[in-house]
Amino acid sequence: MRIDVVSIFPEYLDALRLSLVGKAIEAGTIDLRVHDLRAHTHDRHRTVDDTPYGGGPGMVMSPVPWGEALDQIRESDSEGTPRLVIPTPSGRRYDQTVATELSAHPWLVFACGRYEGIDSRVAEHYAAREDWDGVAEYSVGDYVLAGGEAAVLVMVESVARLLPGVLGNAESAQDDSFAAGDMADLLEGPVFTKPPEWRGLGIPDVLLSGHHARIAEWRREQARQRTETHRPDLLPD
Ligand code: ADE
Repeated sequence: MRIDVVSIFPEYLDALRLSLVGKAIEAGTIDLRVHDLRAHTHDRHRTVDDTPYGGGPGMVMSPVPWGEALDQIRESDSEGTPRLVIPTPSGRRYDQTVATELSAHPWLVFACGRYEGIDSRVAEHYAAREDWDGVAEYSVGDYVLAGGEAAVLVMVESVARLLPGVLGNAESAQDDSFAAGDMADLLEGPVFTKPPEWRGLGIPDVLLSGHHARIAEWRREQARQRTETHRPDLLPD
């Protein structure tokens, strides 16, 4: 999968070279290319923003450097069709279903906005372009970040771990909270490892029983209880 990220803080994305995503890059599963939006400015101050039409506080990112940056990315490969992903608090809620959808795309381009966001004509223009595979705007939660970069770290890491060969144990993505299948819409319950006693606390007997069916049943019940406590909105009525 090819992933391009455009930002005024390209170093912010250095964290993607670590850990699981870093290994996927080294293995060639992900081709990550990070771009500095300011490379597409042409004034002495390398300006990327301007005051909003209609007034109001803050600044809006100019469509001009964005158009240049995105067109250059598009032109770097005549074969594929990139999908433009814009993180924004006013986007559709990002969740595991979206991560799974994105993981099926061969080429994603993330546009990190700052300030009050990117001039809306950028999303409109690329949605209408036939040489792009659409535009999607996502929010990673009901809070406001200073920019899209932290949201891109979240989205790229959650997509990367769904790509074939990225997780060591092929099964471990299936048991996750929010994974499709048996545990869909349930949070993962408690987990334990050695030592069997730590600071006076032991391990639930069932986990030491070796009885796989009983263990599976216990885990399902723990997941249900945890979901009821932390996320009752996920349970059916
Ligand atoms: N940019 C600022 N806040 C954001 C959020 N909650 N999700 C995605 N992008 C954002």
